[in-house]
Amino acid sequence: MGVQDNKEALITPPLLEAKKLFHKFDYELFKNINLALYKKQSIAIIGTSGSGKSTLLNILSSLLKPFEGEVVFENKSLYDIKQKNLLKIRREDFGIIFQAHYLFRGFSANENLDIAKLLSNEEVDTKLLQDLGIAHVLKQGVGELSGGQQQRLSIARVLTKKPQIIFADEPTGNLDKDTANMVMDTLFNYIKENEAGLILVTHENDLAMRCDKVYKLEDKELQELK
Ligand SMILES: Nc1ncnc2c1ncn2[C@@H]1O[C@H](COP(=O)(O)OP(=O)(O)OP(=O)(O)O)[C@@H](O)[C@H]1O
Ligand SMILES: [Mg+2]
Repeated sequence: MGVQDNKEALITPPLLEAKKLFHKFDYELFKNINLALYKKQSIAIIGTSGSGKSTLLNILSSLLKPFEGEVVFENKSLYDIKQKNLLKIRREDFGIIFQAHYLFRGFSANENLDIAKLLSNEEVDTKLLQDLGIAHVLKQGVGELSGGQQQRLSIARVLTKKPQIIFADEPTGNLDKDTANMVMDTLFNYIKENEAGLILVTHENDLAMRCDKVYKLEDKELQELK
């Protein structure tokens, strides 16, 4: 964050805040997780496989309720919000890019984008598709796209709805280094231009370090690396 952004962070409340999160399945996964995400800010979470990164992202993005603690969005705990309003937040404000991407197979790339357009009343940004390097494959069926193209299409679909917060779980997992950097550039541009925030889970240190803040999920806690 630049000086100007830091100043802004002091006077504007966080977009999203995690307070004392604790979660366990069969065994304790993590505890005492505190996090604040501000507008135009990117946060990376790294950690070894199985350390709980996806679980933490699911909690932050409202898909999973933690054992203890809370997640606050726009000054309200997600657990105090009526189901109907929570669905609205998920649909309009949160953009979730999953580790496994979900596209409608049997439809073309374009048709998959149309669905996002319908749900959000937003037009598909052609520059976005060019930035992601998929503008030329829109007529193809999803099944005819390469794994990396499918991944970028699912990112385009999420960005088309203009979310306030992007939660991305290994969004560049299938991509070579150059393409991964291109996708990250697109995500960084998006949050700057739309005053949004990004929480990125990745196992790639180089990509993580491009974010404003970097945390490592280790020994059941979030260690601040940057
Ligand atoms: N729904 C569930 N029920 C029981 N255990 C689960 C559930 N989801 C995740 N776990 C367990 O929690 C641990 C953390 O899983 P998680 O998917 O959060 O790890 P991760 O850090 O994202 O790993 P990776 O880098 O491989 O994606 C794993 O041991 C996993 O088996
Ligand atoms: Mg994971």
